[in-house]
Amino acid sequence: MRDLSVPQFPMRPRGEVMADTVTITDNRTGESVEIPIIDGGVSARDWKGLLPDVWFYDPAFIQTAACASSITYLDGDNGVLRYRGYPIEQLAEKSSFLEVAYLLIHGELPNESQLDVWTHDITHHTFIHENMRKRFLEGFHYDAHPMGMLVSAVAALSTFYPEAKNIFDPESRKKQIVRLIAKMPTLAAAAHRFYSGMPFVYPDNSLDFAGNFLSMMWKTAEPRYAANPALARAIDVLFILHADHEQNCSTTAMRVVGSSHSDPYSACAAASAALYGPRHGGANEAVVRMLTEIGDMAHVDDYVRRVKAGEVRLQGFGHRVYKSYDPRAKIIKKISDEVFEVTGKNKLLDIALKLEEVALSDDYFLSRKLYPNVDFYSGLIYQAMGFPINMFPVLFAIPRTAGWLAHWVELLDQDSKIARPRQLYVGHPLRDYAPISDRG
Ligand code: CMC
Repeated sequence: MRDLSVPQFPMRPRGEVMADTVTITDNRTGESVEIPIIDGGVSARDWKGLLPDVWFYDPAFIQTAACASSITYLDGDNGVLRYRGYPIEQLAEKSSFLEVAYLLIHGELPNESQLDVWTHDITHHTFIHENMRKRFLEGFHYDAHPMGMLVSAVAALSTFYPEAKNIFDPESRKKQIVRLIAKMPTLAAAAHRFYSGMPFVYPDNSLDFAGNFLSMMWKTAEPRYAANPALARAIDVLFILHADHEQNCSTTAMRVVGSSHSDPYSACAAASAALYGPRHGGANEAVVRMLTEIGDMAHVDDYVRRVKAGEVRLQGFGHRVYKSYDPRAKIIKKISDEVFEVTGKNKLLDIALKLEEVALSDDYFLSRKLYPNVDFYSGLIYQAMGFPINMFPVLFAIPRTAGWLAHWVELLDQDSKIARPRQLYVGHPLRDYAPISDRG
């Protein structure tokens, strides 16, 4: 693995014949620069040498690599996803979420004693300060959306741990990482209990990560909640699948805010806010709403017609990077069988299967390479397990915290500059201020 802290784009003498290069010529001056293609990219720094005042115009960063990263590999054309080199299929089958979180953050799978310490640390940081629950979370309106509560609660955590500002202190950094991963399920469940009018359930440190989360969600009068093992495993696998996805919208938010050297709670709150949107973490919520709106297999064709007419989007289809079947969607489809065996089939499943079948045989979707993404089936599983729809983005945020933190650590270790893109100004030229009486 190469050292990412070292600039990777050495200038080479002009005119030298190279295999993997591009040549940029400024037709105004006839000057050229030859730029090597390294790891699939060309250096903007080299471009700047020739054209210091000409900006790449790339809204939404469609053609821009904003960083070098060694965390997640994604080949969207071939449906490949790997964390630190390990195929997602193997991790989903053989690993656990906490082991994967360790892998993402530390770069290697833990040995037995490392995993024991990591699991112990996470398990023993699950409690939140009582003021967080009583004063902060209980201050929300009775029907507050749990994702809105989560975003605010994560930001508020920074006020409980002011030492988190010491982002270059290795001990402090380690502690905030453990706290964030450990407390996300507690905050998530607390938000759910609040708006559903149920009392808060304290973490149970004798349970594993997924089991404890399900206990905090569902425990009622029983002395101890024991989750169904198949459902707890399904949640753990869903957490693995959602743990990282390289430079998606929320991770980019994490890196941009992190680049200003803010504390990790504030950066994670920004990332959570980005995840809230229906184009990102809110998509599985949109899928279930769409399937409910379709309501009957007989309406599928008409819905597809509306999608093709541009009236609506087929939620859970399409991806900025995947131009084939999302590998996570394949795994989720398999898990759904195991979950439905316990919970009974979600009645929306048949509509989803029919919709997929119709879409995957229609040229509109094939020509645009629109395939089911991770969100197409995950909402159906969550719904069958009893999660209300507005908890779906929250369920995404819990595991993605591990990915956000892995990127945050990588960013700080790369000694990166503050994120500060340029713009193409298209507004008014200089004009004089007019008094209000002269403005017509
Ligand atoms: N339904 C119908 N048409 C679509 C869809 C869709 N879901 N997605 C893309 N298209 C069409 C789009 O209209 C465009 O067609 P044309 O070339 O004729 O204008 C073409 O496909 C390219 O679309 P795009 O909007 O340029 O693609 P994008 O890369 O900007 O958008 C996306 C990616 C995920 C936002 C989009 O596919 C979408 O809105 N999907 C539905 C929402 C969704 O499922 N989001 C979850 C993404 S996976 C989870 C995550 O990573 O957060």
